[in-house]
Amino acid sequence: MRGPLRLLLVEDSQEDELLLLHLLRRSGYQIVHERVDTAPAMEAALDRSEWDLVLSDNFMPHFSAPAALTVLKQRGLDLPFIIFSGTITDELAVAAMKAGASDYVMKSNQARLLPAIERALREAALRREHQQVAEQLRRSQKLEAFGQLAGGIAHDVNNMLAVISGYSSLLQDRLTLEDPLRRYVQEIGKAGERTAALTRQLLAFSRKQVLTPRALDLNQVVLDMDAMLRPLIGADIELVTLPYPARASVLADPSQLEQVILNLAVNARDAMPRGGTLTLETQHVELDAAAARHVDTPAGSYVLLTVSDTGCGMDAETRARLFDPFFTKGKEHGTGLGLATVYGIVRQSGGQIAVESSPGQGACFRIYLPRVEAEGEGVPVGEVPGGPNAGWETVLVVEDEPLVRELIREVLTGQGYTVLEASHGAQAVEVCEQHPGPIHLVITDVVLPRMSGRELTERITAQRPEAKVLFMSGYADDAVLRHGILAGEAAFLPKPFTPATLAEKVRERLG
Ligand SMILES: Nc1ncnc2c1ncn2[C@@H]1O[C@H](COP(=O)(O)OP(=O)(O)OP(=O)(O)O)[C@@H](O)[C@H]1O
Ligand SMILES: [Mg+2]
Repeated sequence: MRGPLRLLLVEDSQEDELLLLHLLRRSGYQIVHERVDTAPAMEAALDRSEWDLVLSDNFMPHFSAPAALTVLKQRGLDLPFIIFSGTITDELAVAAMKAGASDYVMKSNQARLLPAIERALREAALRREHQQVAEQLRRSQKLEAFGQLAGGIAHDVNNMLAVISGYSSLLQDRLTLEDPLRRYVQEIGKAGERTAALTRQLLAFSRKQVLTPRALDLNQVVLDMDAMLRPLIGADIELVTLPYPARASVLADPSQLEQVILNLAVNARDAMPRGGTLTLETQHVELDAAAARHVDTPAGSYVLLTVSDTGCGMDAETRARLFDPFFTKGKEHGTGLGLATVYGIVRQSGGQIAVESSPGQGACFRIYLPRVEAEGEGVPVGEVPGGPNAGWETVLVVEDEPLVRELIREVLTGQGYTVLEASHGAQAVEVCEQHPGPIHLVITDVVLPRMSGRELTERITAQRPEAKVLFMSGYADDAVLRHGILAGEAAFLPKPFTPATLAEKVRERLG
């Protein structure tokens, strides 16, 4: 059995058409075909449907094989094209091959036709696969570059935001409730918060946000989301959750996975204004080398989360740019960061995402997350306990951005701490050597010029083992993760922070 074949036949003779169909059907092809013998008819056939193969006569009263090839080329179509002709000279054949024909077969040598077709189909499939892989690579490289840019911007913006929000909050504390200036300061604070939310999304996309991954059951996350999603998607949309009957353990940040599901669900809702079905399903899958290459991920065991809807679907152009930040199909409210965020979170969690959709056919997002064995408690980072935050201890602040350093000093001296300052590692070491009294806490940026925060604290604690450490950073780059700061051995303060969180965190660290 050879299977279905969609054949576009460029041929003026009905007799030859019948003969050819008979030959192909006899050898096991299930043929869907159309015969054309002019350029406009061929154009129309190409518009109407997709084809696997073009078989073309060489000369016809109103058309020819070279002209048919030109029609294909002008459309940028890469279809196997075989010339099947009673009259073809070597010269013409060579010219046709140069123009992009896959093969030529004389009508007098029918036996060669089937092997020629098979070979052309095989080669076309191979070309398609190569193209897909190349396209995938190009897309992921583009997103990588976007991510680096976005991450770089967000990092610097976060520093400035800490300053803006910090001072506006300090200022607000000083103004009486009746002060007419209070409102202005509040507006500044609000704008700061909104910008911080935006940079958080950018960081998520650029995979530089601070994640707190732990082994968790994706089934549980999906089930927990169920209650939250129902009111969000409305009564017209049916929500179906199909958790895998066994644990679906992955290593990820639960709140980030919720964000992923939420963003996908909101998009699905928007795609189904007149109702429909939203399905969340988890499965175990094993990807062998070939399957993994298709998904663009290493081979292995995965949990597959499928989020599908029966909405309007999307065209190829939308599909190609789906994960680009700020790509949106013009809704009033959309910023176009929803899927960029999803992409970032999935990739940062070591997973991959694929989408399948066409207009009117709904959309299906598949998220592959590496499956892990057991579940355990993760390492909580960034917990904020309550309690009075005042102190008397001595704190060394190492931060290269002067505005941020001043803000920290302002907040901590306000709480009663003694504050020492340094703008880079060497200076901090010097301060440590020269300061006569104890240093209870070192607050340092993770990413510093010359000496990293990690190296710096190692040198300081070698001298002063009693000193505690609090790391801060606008993003978790590889250095942070590599150095095990997230492994829980040190406290971590994500930027931008409010004066209140800073004071709480310092108090917590000092005990
Ligand atoms: N399930 C879906 N069905 C049809 N089209 C979709 C679906 N999900 C996303 N899209 C298309 O992809 C675009 C980008 O989605 P994305 O979530 O990134 O941005 P947005 O929804 O427009 O804005 P935001 O999520 O930031 O509010 C959408 O505008 C929409 O055109
Ligand atoms: Mg969206």
